[in-house]
Order: sequence, then structure tokens, then C-alpha cells
Amino acid sequence: MTWLQLSSVALTLISAWSTVAATHHEVTVGAGGQLKFIPETLNAQVGDQITYRFFAKNHSVVQSTFAEPCRPQIGGFFSGFVVNPSQDDTAPTTFTIHVNDTKPIWVYCGQRNNDHCQNGMVHAINASPEGTNTFSNFKSAASNAQRPSLTPSDGLPVGGVRKLHVDVGSNGNLVFDPSNVAELPRTVIEFSFNPANHSIVQSSFDAPCQPLDGGFSTPFVPTQQAPSGVTFEVVVKDTKPIWFYCAQTAKTHCQAGMVGSINAANTGDKTFEAFKQLAAKAPASNLPTHQPNVGVLKVNGTAVYNVNGVVFDSTKTGWDSSIVTDVPAPGYTYSPYMVAMAGGSVPENYGWTDRLSSNATEYLQAMQLMDHFVVQVLFEGYSKLRQGEWTGIPESIISIFGSMFAQALIQRSTYIESLQHFNKPTINGCRFNIDSSSFDEWLQTSLTATTLSTGAVMDIITQVEGQDHWMIAALATALGSKARMSAVINMMQNHMAASAPREELIPVELALGYVRSKYAVGGTCGPEADSLNSKADLPALNITAKETQSGTGRLTSITVSLPSSNGSRYVAWIGPWGGIKYSDLDADGKTVVPEGLSGHVWIAVTSAKGMRAKEISHSALTAIEKVWVVDPWGHDG
Ligand SMILES: *[C@@H]1O[C@H](CO)[C@@H](O)[C@H](O)[C@H]1NC(C)=O
Ligand SMILES: *[C@@H]1O[C@H](CO)[C@@H](O)[C@H](O)[C@H]1NC(C)=O
Ligand SMILES: *[C@@H]1O[C@H](CO)[C@@H](O)[C@H](O)[C@H]1NC(C)=O
Ligand SMILES: *[C@@H]1O[C@H](CO)[C@@H](O)[C@H](O)[C@H]1NC(C)=O
Ligand SMILES: *[C@@H]1O[C@H](CO)[C@@H](O)[C@H](O)[C@H]1NC(C)=O
Ligand SMILES: *[C@@H]1O[C@H](CO)[C@@H](O)[C@H](O)[C@H]1NC(C)=O
Ligand SMILES: *[C@@H]1O[C@H](CO)[C@@H](O)[C@H](O)[C@H]1NC(C)=O
Repeated sequence: MTWLQLSSVALTLISAWSTVAATHHEVTVGAGGQLKFIPETLNAQVGDQITYRFFAKNHSVVQSTFAEPCRPQIGGFFSGFVVNPSQDDTAPTTFTIHVNDTKPIWVYCGQRNNDHCQNGMVHAINASPEGTNTFSNFKSAASNAQRPSLTPSDGLPVGGVRKLHVDVGSNGNLVFDPSNVAELPRTVIEFSFNPANHSIVQSSFDAPCQPLDGGFSTPFVPTQQAPSGVTFEVVVKDTKPIWFYCAQTAKTHCQAGMVGSINAANTGDKTFEAFKQLAAKAPASNLPTHQPNVGVLKVNGTAVYNVNGVVFDSTKTGWDSSIVTDVPAPGYTYSPYMVAMAGGSVPENYGWTDRLSSNATEYLQAMQLMDHFVVQVLFEGYSKLRQGEWTGIPESIISIFGSMFAQALIQRSTYIESLQHFNKPTINGCRFNIDSSSFDEWLQTSLTATTLSTGAVMDIITQVEGQDHWMIAALATALGSKARMSAVINMMQNHMAASAPREELIPVELALGYVRSKYAVGGTCGPEADSLNSKADLPALNITAKETQSGTGRLTSITVSLPSSNGSRYVAWIGPWGGIKYSDLDADGKTVVPEGLSGHVWIAVTSAKGMRAKEISHSALTAIEKVWVVDPWGHDG
């Protein structure tokens, strides 16, 4: 689970078309010392967030099933335990989940001490109001559930974002609040800046007011309002102690006690108090020259990746997170940071003609939607890389992804600005489920996004004519940019570096259908998206078996589940230069892979053969799918 999906960034976004804007629900856990979630039940829509706030003693939020109320659901969410002595003040640690569908979600507190679950500490989202699966039936099943209840054995948060909120300099005091806490790995620490002018820098225990090599840091953040809306997020990676300080030298903040720790020992010679005493005697503080390092600095939820110098001017960042998933208003100017990251701005003049044909309108809308997907995928991964959530990725690679994200964002504006120029509707909304559980999964999705965008642009280029000829240069630019991205991403995978994907022509309606049916979160694409010609209702192409040649690892045959049809069925293999090969499917759904293909190839099951690539959507019986045909090391996924 990702901070992106839960953070305000992703959510504030969905809106422009929204009659159903995402709602942020709050649920208390153990408030007033009661063994209760309040509210016990709630109804939530797709896209809503639910934040759990913890009180009194030691509770957790665990997803279960109706059948087994006090046992974790496999793959369900878990907050980890949160300790809070107070009945009335919320713990600084919260847990937030994201509602992806309207199926019932069953929840309990996993504290076995005093059997919280069996004693009624249960909760449900979108429980059925009548019939068998009601909340009251769930609660009574919980009271009879086997004791003790269980929680995931690693004890770590999963399926949602666990966040520790730390105030920086609240009420003008030179302190971090809280300054010394234990936190679980995977927790996001969210520092919130207050006036007047602080920084957050990681140090070692031994050198309290000096930056730790490779540690996190922010620039100085001068602010006037409390809270300022400027935050800094870092992820706790393990249980080792984390030490940090404020580097402000104007009043020697670090030496004055503006230091903090996460997971410091309570006893021995490396406690928080020992650190503070060491800081009091430390020489003048310092901070690294490049900020922010490791974590993510945000202004009112908007990530800021480039800061010039050691002082951050929040009035000069000028880009709004909503532009990642929403359509910027006409005339929107991208901030110099974004433009610099993208390596240049949009052209001043696209050479627009007087009118836009209705086919061209649809092409621009389709590409805008495809590139919404590209932008969101790249943003998701880039954010995780910047947060240090995936380790071992060099800074140079992270910067390349940053640049790709910015380029995709600027590129997408070609479609948006053109639609706006011709007074045509843009595609608003559209949020996507992006698998970023690992760097490799995310790379796969990025490659899918960029190759589909490339393939669809190629298709459109072949169809643009007459009054829409101005589009050709803009589309060719988009083609070049996405093809470069695909090549870079492809080379980062464990495949042969030589087999960079080539530019295939993928019918835009198939590419769009794939993105919509496989990734779009149901109901988030607005009415304009629904009216686009996209084959989102074709059944998925399911590969049930693969055979490879021993030695080379080349894919020699595949077996697919056969779509229902009375006639012959074929597999269309979409190649570069608009080329396409067909192979016959036998009665078991098996087919031989044609010669002469390499790398990733998009395929579809069709009811006819011999059509050109751009025509296959007429006889496609399944959606398209991507297969890897040459894998010399035999680790095809
Ligand atoms: C909180 O409860 C969990 C589960 O019973 C336990 O493992 C943990 O040690 C408790 N924490 C504290 C500080 O009591
Ligand atoms: C929503 O989807 C994300 C990403 O797939 C997942 O991590 C999260 O656990 C899901 N939320 C719920 C409540 O299941
Ligand atoms: C904030 O502090 C830094 C470091 O002392 C200083 O360079 C900068 O001028 C300060 N900014 C403001 C607005 O006070
Ligand atoms: C954050 O948003 C609040 C409320 O809209 C605004 O007053 C504040 O100036 C914003 N903070 C920054 C640093 O832009
Ligand atoms: C518009 O698209 C339709 C469907 O693809 C096609 O039949 C028609 O010829 C196109 N019109 C023009 C003017 O290109
Ligand atoms: C592939 O599997 C999905 C999910 O089980 C199913 O909905 C779809 O119909 C299958 N496709 C074919 C062609 O059988
Ligand atoms: C196959 O043919 C039968 C008889 O002509 C017809 O009723 C059925 O709809 C056809 N099925 C498909 C999937 O075309």
C-alpha cells in the first residue's frame, strides 16, 4: 500500500467531474476507554479514505472476514498495535485505508489481552443492512469466536498507511512533539512545520547536530502560519534507532534541545536523554546542500522535489498536486520546477487549424486518458523512490524517473490544451489501481502504460488527415517521448538490454479498453470517458500455459483459455512497423509462437486472420495482453 493512494495527493484529485467527491471518514478506536470503534459501522464510496484514531491503552485495526471475525483476512489490512495511555487525546499515530470497492469490509481490534474482538470491539464498512451478513450478526459471531484472536505474525502495518504525526516547533517552542517514540517499520513519519524557521535533519547518535551521510533532511522552512501546511514525510525502514535535529543556527536549535528520536533504547547509554545531552554540547549545526534528501517535502499535500539552495520558499513552488490526476484549468502554467524536470515546456504554438473533426476530438480524449494513466503510474513510482521505499536504486535512476514523470505530465497537456482550445470536453476523473507492491511490479505497469500509449499514438497518426493535420507533429513528439521511456524502463528489467520494445501499432480502442478494464477504478472515469470508443468489455486474454525452448528460453507455444465463438480462432501478434503475425489456435487453445518476434509482444485472440494491425479490433475476441517471447535466462514472469 502506498502513501500516494492514501495521501491527500491522490484524493483531492478525483474531483472536477465529481458529483461524488471522495470523503475522508474518521473512526475512533477505544475513545473514552471503551472497547469500541466509533462509529461502529459506516458506508463509504469507492475512493473514500478512512482514518482510524487510537486511544486508551493498546489497540489495532485488523481486517477479517464475516466467517472468521477475529482472524486476519489473508491479504487484508492491519494497522499494527498503537499504544496510547490517554482516553481523550488521540495518539499521534493514525492508520488510513482506501476504499476500492463497495463490498463489505469487516474489522476488529486484535488485542488478545481482555479479548477485545470477542468483547465487541468490531467494526464494519458497507455491511449489508439486512439478511445474513449484517453488522449485528458479525458482532455476535465475534463474541463466540475462538480465543485468543490472531493478528498478522510480523506485527507490521499492511494494506493502509500508518502515519506518525510529529509537530516541528509547535507554539514557538524549540521541540519536536513527540520527540521520542517507538514506531513500527513501514510507518510514515509526517513532520509538520510551524513558525518560525526550522529544518529536519537525520544525524547519528554520536554527532547530534551534524547530517548523517545518506540520511534524510529538509532545507530551512520559514513559515508564518501554524500549522504552515508544509510537511516532510519519511518512512521507518527497520527497528534501528533514528536520530534527528533542527539545524537552525540563528538560535542554536539543536543545542537548545530541538532533537528527536524514533526507536531509541529506553535504557543503557544511547537513550533519547543521552542524545539530548550530547546535542547540548555539540558544535554548530549543519545541513547537507541538496534538499530534500530521502523523504518528501509537501506543501499542502503537494510534493516538491526540487529546492534551490538551503532555504525553501513555499510561495515559489507553484504546482498543484491535483494536476497529476485532474485536468488543469485552461491557461494553467506549469511551475519552473516541473518544466525544468521535464527538460522543457510545451510549445507556444501547436499550429492549430480552425476546426477539430469529431474523430480527432475523440483521439485527443483517448490519448488524454491513456496519458492520465502514464502520469499516475510514473508519479506513484517516483514518489516511492523519493521516499526511499525501494532501496538500492541509485539517485541517477531516481532522477530519470522524475524526469519521465515530468515529461509525461507536460506531454499530456498537449491533449488537454488542444481540447480546451477547441472548446471540447476533457476527460476528468479516472483514477487507477496501480500495483506498486515492489519496484519490479511497478516497472511492469510502467512499461505497459508507456508501450500502450506509444502503440495508440502510432495508430492515431495513421488516421489523422485533412483538417487535423496539425496533430501529426504533436503526436510524433508524443510517440518519441513515450518510446524513449519504454526503452529506458525495459532496460531496467532483468531482460536482455538489447530487446528494447519497438514501436508497435496498437489500435487505440484496444489499448484504451485494456487500461480501462484492467486499471481504472470503477466509476471514477467520467461520462466523456464512457462515451469513448473503447473495447473495455472484451474478456481478458488468459494465458494458462507456456512452453520455452531449452537453452535459449525462447517462448515456443502458449495456451490460452478459449473465448466462446463458433468459428476458427487465431492469435494476432502485434509487431513493429504496423506489422502483425497470426497463429492458429487448436481446440485446446494452444498455439505456436511465430518466428521473428522478440521482447515484449502484445497479442489478442481474433476470429479472423490477415487483417492489418489497425483493423484487428473488429475481429478481436479478447482484450490484448503482453507476453515476453525471448528470455535467455528463463525467468519469465
Ligand atoms: C500492545 O499489544 C501488543 C499485542 O498484545 C503487544 O505485543 C505489545 O507489546 C503491546 N505494547 C505495549 C507497549 O504494551
Ligand atoms: C485498496 O487497494 C490497494 C492497492 O491495491 C490495497 O493496498 C488496499 O489494501 C486496498 N484497500 C482495501 C481497504 O482493501
Ligand atoms: C531561515 O533560516 C536560514 C538559516 O539560518 C536563513 O538563511 C534564512 O534567511 C531564514 N529565512 C527567513 C525568512 O528567516
Ligand atoms: C496551505 O493551505 C492553507 C489553507 O488553504 C493556506 O492558508 C496556506 O497558506 C497554505 N500553505 C502554503 C505554504 O501555501
Ligand atoms: C471517423 O472514424 C470513423 C470510424 O473509425 C471512420 O469510419 C470515418 O471514416 C472517420 N472519418 C473521417 C473523416 O476520417
Ligand atoms: C479470463 O479470466 C477472466 C477472469 O477469470 C474471465 O472473466 C475471462 O472471461 C477469461 N477470458 C477468457 C477469454 O476466457
Ligand atoms: C453459435 O451458433 C449457435 C447456432 O447457430 C448460436 O445460437 C450461438 O449464438 C453461436 N455462438 C456464438 C458464440 O457465436
